[in-house]
Amino acid sequence: MLSVTQLGYLGLSVSNVDEWERFATSVLGLQANGREADGSLFLRMDEYHHRFIVHPTGKDDLAYIGWEVATEEALQAMATQLTAAGVAVQPGTPKEAEARRVAGLMKFHDPSGIASELFYGPLVTFDKPFQSPRPISGFKTDEQGLGHFVVAVDDLDRSLHFYRDVLGMRISDFVRFSPAPGVMLNVAFFHCNPRHHSIAFIAMPNPPKRLNHFMLQLKSLDDVGATYYLCQDQGIPIARNLGRHTNDHMVSFYLRTPSGFEVEYGWGARVVDDSTWQVQMHTAGSMWGHRPGSR
Ligand code: FE2
Repeated sequence: MLSVTQLGYLGLSVSNVDEWERFATSVLGLQANGREADGSLFLRMDEYHHRFIVHPTGKDDLAYIGWEVATEEALQAMATQLTAAGVAVQPGTPKEAEARRVAGLMKFHDPSGIASELFYGPLVTFDKPFQSPRPISGFKTDEQGLGHFVVAVDDLDRSLHFYRDVLGMRISDFVRFSPAPGVMLNVAFFHCNPRHHSIAFIAMPNPPKRLNHFMLQLKSLDDVGATYYLCQDQGIPIARNLGRHTNDHMVSFYLRTPSGFEVEYGWGARVVDDSTWQVQMHTAGSMWGHRPGSR
């Protein structure tokens, strides 16, 4: 089955783009890469023109997902695969492709109604290398895509079927744990390349936000540690303190973004080799740490 190859970009809808630009650049170390006429902000973290587009549309939540495929032929074949599964696929216009800085795209909605895009041919600027405004070693992307993100859905089985059997992704593992007495969370993790997961789903009826968090993987543990203490020094809200996850082995902490959802800032995740990987189930999210933070 044909699969998407990586998480290419995320669109965010926020109420304060200026605050987001300050947070993304001076705390996360992302690079601002200009704005559109409507005020939308491009953020980059590698050779891609952008990995995030931050729109001033006020929802403070995920706006859309950009899944990458390798070629125009793969884009057409994936559209056929979606259509065969009964999904309405809308070809992107040249103007829409230009707005995303890609050679071509298609649009659809996932079973939870999340706006989703398939694209190929992202604009890359090796002639203008990524430069973080902070003294960090940079982000682990390449064939693993921008990172991962976690969304809340009311029907986990429906998402599992769609992302596995229609988008061609593979299940990495499941985490079932109780964050508080009387509360049980089921989380399913999916990969489409060696990154342990590009997307994960939390089963949750009527979630306050679709987006729980997105994750940026740093190249050095020092980047994570230095940023952890920068947050403490500057009063940046830390949602969860340092810890190591059971499934992807990521050492990370979680920051609260200006939009209320969180960013996981991590290092050291293990990768998936599909020829040997076996699905596992965990009853804890972390080996150690990740305790509730200051806010
Ligand atoms: Fe995460």
